[in-house]
Amino acid sequence: MVHRRTQVAIIGAGPAGLLLGALLARHGIDAVIVEQRSAEYVLSRIRAGVLEQTTVDLLREAGVADRCLKEGLTHEGIELSFDGALHRIDFRALTDKHVTVYGQTEVTHDLMQSRASSNLMTDYEAESVEVSGFDCERPAVRYLKGGVSHELACDFIAGCDGYHGICRASVPTDAISTYEKVYPFGWLGVLADVPPVRHELIYANHDRGFALCSQRSRTRSRYYVQCSLDDQADQWSDEAFWDELRRRLPAEIAEAVTTGPSIEKSIAPLRSFVAEPMRFGRLFLAGDAAHIVPPTGAKGLNLAATDVGYLARGLAEHYLERSSSGLDHYSTRCLSRVWKAERFSWWFTSLMHRFPDAGAFGSRLQQAELAYLVGSRSASSALAENYVGLPL
Ligand code: APR
Ligand code: PHB
Repeated sequence: MVHRRTQVAIIGAGPAGLLLGALLARHGIDAVIVEQRSAEYVLSRIRAGVLEQTTVDLLREAGVADRCLKEGLTHEGIELSFDGALHRIDFRALTDKHVTVYGQTEVTHDLMQSRASSNLMTDYEAESVEVSGFDCERPAVRYLKGGVSHELACDFIAGCDGYHGICRASVPTDAISTYEKVYPFGWLGVLADVPPVRHELIYANHDRGFALCSQRSRTRSRYYVQCSLDDQADQWSDEAFWDELRRRLPAEIAEAVTTGPSIEKSIAPLRSFVAEPMRFGRLFLAGDAAHIVPPTGAKGLNLAATDVGYLARGLAEHYLERSSSGLDHYSTRCLSRVWKAERFSWWFTSLMHRFPDAGAFGSRLQQAELAYLVGSRSASSALAENYVGLPL
């Protein structure tokens, strides 16, 4: 058995765990990350890529924002498409703020690189990871690595191991409450090295279902169409995907779509999920380990970032100021922000998607709400304010 000690054991090397590790390093707080997969596998996962200013500020605070600031695309609005027409929501005019389009894979890559070049400890391909002692002042993480048992003693455990991780699963069921909503459809996504159809994202409401035109760069695009949960990604040829996407867009946009071979194609289910509280003694949950939002509002990565922003600040107060205030308020602060993002993501999903049981009356209501939204400054402001990110 290999015995080691650290101040904070971080479970999971996704964006939440890696960003927490980087922020703690800036405060001189020692942390070890334990990840079940290889670094290559973690980097191969295709995820979203719309960053709020608060997330970019946290990347800057962690010293990993250079490439994002250089290569990220500044978007000062989005376009809504319905009834064959486009309607722009002008973030700059409505909130004096913008978002940055920069892939989550790039964020993860930058964080991994910074961690490796600072010789900070990350144990990838850790098997049978177990957490214990977080309710009795002796937190520890045990795992197997290359057939050798490891025990990592620590002061705190950060559960950044995603929705299917072991940290939330290790909490006694009577100590945790969960809230969930599963949507009756999925998103079929295609990544392709083709120029984006527009310089801003298009969210489309259409009789045939939702569609999204997004991007990673000026030469790489990401498109989504709402699909049935029974669908399989390999049942959809690229041609069928492009045809369906174009059917759901205004004619002049459909004609302007540059198609090409998909370099990634997958279906993601849509779910809203919240676990409360987010602290259990010396175990703190962050990111997808504690909450999931449907991707419509692009809040997943941004919520994970603000969670670890609050946690890093609380841990710094604990170690550097001997104050427990930040840690004691961690769960309440995060959940207040999480529920606002859950509400926005649920609302935007409900507005832009076709629900099987909505019927004609339901779709008329959607049309009326969309017409009201694009015709009302206060309603557009509310959308813009939530999309660019509520103040911390
Ligand atoms: N032991 C160690 N690591 C684990 C375990 C385990 N038992 N279970 C899961 N992990 C790792 C996963 O392999 C993954 O790399 O934890 C990491 C969790 O990363 P994410 O799922 O990306 O979650 P998070 O870092 O919270 O990022 C949230 O990811 O899914 C998107 O939309 C979401 O953008 C949001 C972001
Ligand atoms: C993406 O680029 O993958 C993306 C963008 C915005 C969303 C969801 C996904 O709301």
